[in-house]
Amino acid sequence: MPYNFNHTPNRRDPKVVNKWTYYKKDILPMWVADMDFPAPKPILKELHKVADQGVLGYELPSTVLKETIATRMDKLYKWKVKPDSVVAVTGIVSGFNVAARAFCSQKKGILVQPPVYNEFHEVKNNLGIPQIDAPLVEQVNGNILSYEIDWDVFEKQVKKAGMFLLCNPHNPLGIIFSRKDLLRMAEICIRNNVLIVSDEIHSELLLDGNQFTPMAKLSSEIANHTITLIAPSKTFNVPGLFCGFAIIPNKELRERYTKEVEYLRLHVSSMGLHAAQVAFSGECDGWLRDLRKYLTTNRNFLVDYVTKHMPDVRITSPDATYLAWLDFTQLKLKKSPFDFFMMEAKVALSDGKIFGTDYRGYVRLNFGTSRKILKQGLDRMRNALN
Ligand SMILES: Cc1ncc(COP(=O)(O)O)c(C=O)c1O
Repeated sequence: MPYNFNHTPNRRDPKVVNKWTYYKKDILPMWVADMDFPAPKPILKELHKVADQGVLGYELPSTVLKETIATRMDKLYKWKVKPDSVVAVTGIVSGFNVAARAFCSQKKGILVQPPVYNEFHEVKNNLGIPQIDAPLVEQVNGNILSYEIDWDVFEKQVKKAGMFLLCNPHNPLGIIFSRKDLLRMAEICIRNNVLIVSDEIHSELLLDGNQFTPMAKLSSEIANHTITLIAPSKTFNVPGLFCGFAIIPNKELRERYTKEVEYLRLHVSSMGLHAAQVAFSGECDGWLRDLRKYLTTNRNFLVDYVTKHMPDVRITSPDATYLAWLDFTQLKLKKSPFDFFMMEAKVALSDGKIFGTDYRGYVRLNFGTSRKILKQGLDRMRNALN
């Protein structure tokens, strides 16, 4: 039976700080990137089993878990990963900060493609290294936004970097980069001796039956030059368990990376490891198939709604993720759209400016929720604009 994604449990427990309690009670949350759906049953069953056994002791990532991850990469992409190449990390944000600690310096900073996930912008603050921007270039067709790489800028900026932090699929734009673009980015990075760190946390949240290719799958030369970051967190909605994996085929890179992980003692919680084992085993793939269909319909509903009822607003039509990017600059609002909708619509979105300094007139909207809540949020926004 297909899972009922119209069911979204009440998360408004005042003792807990989460997406639903962070702001005041009357605010509808469409901000931080977790979904309002329960995780798939097999994961919950596993976590219950661990709790029932009673002892919540230390655990390390097992060989079985690393083999399960390698098997999944083979099954999904025909990408041959050796289980030994897998390093567990306490989430993907830790994962790319570790990479920057190991491979960047004052002279060789971190290259990113704004507008991009806010935590990418924090790496420079955490480590005191330069951030180098190669912004994606906006295209407008009707009210639909899309973004492309400016190759001249990319080529120029890469020279100042020690590491390129790629977001693929891209948050907040929902782009799945094509093989052609990936090959060109990789060629430029390798030619300039810049390490590629590919954040692929959203890689299984594909809409419309789209396909995804991991950067490191493209050639053994690229794999040798790339750290791939994956996690069950976004796909199976278990981000609070803080468990991710770096896949590093190059032994030398892996040893340097693992040394940093050990230095910082980034040990993953046992519940995270148990959840990952079940998530990557394939047991939850039926749930995932239904989720993708539901999210695709949500995306279509959202884009149609904006086109019909907010014609001056521009929006992406994402190929992956449950995140959309909306441009309110045509409306000439006095406040930023983030402040405007928080105050006038009681809807919490993610403020465009956290994705890059030029994006104050934009917001990111999370549509990983029931259609009813999505419609409620959009109705509130539409009424506020009217
Ligand atoms: C691109 C990207 N990377 C990483 C994360 C968060 O990763 P974690 O919670 O595992 O640190 C997110 C969450 O939204 C994300 O969108």
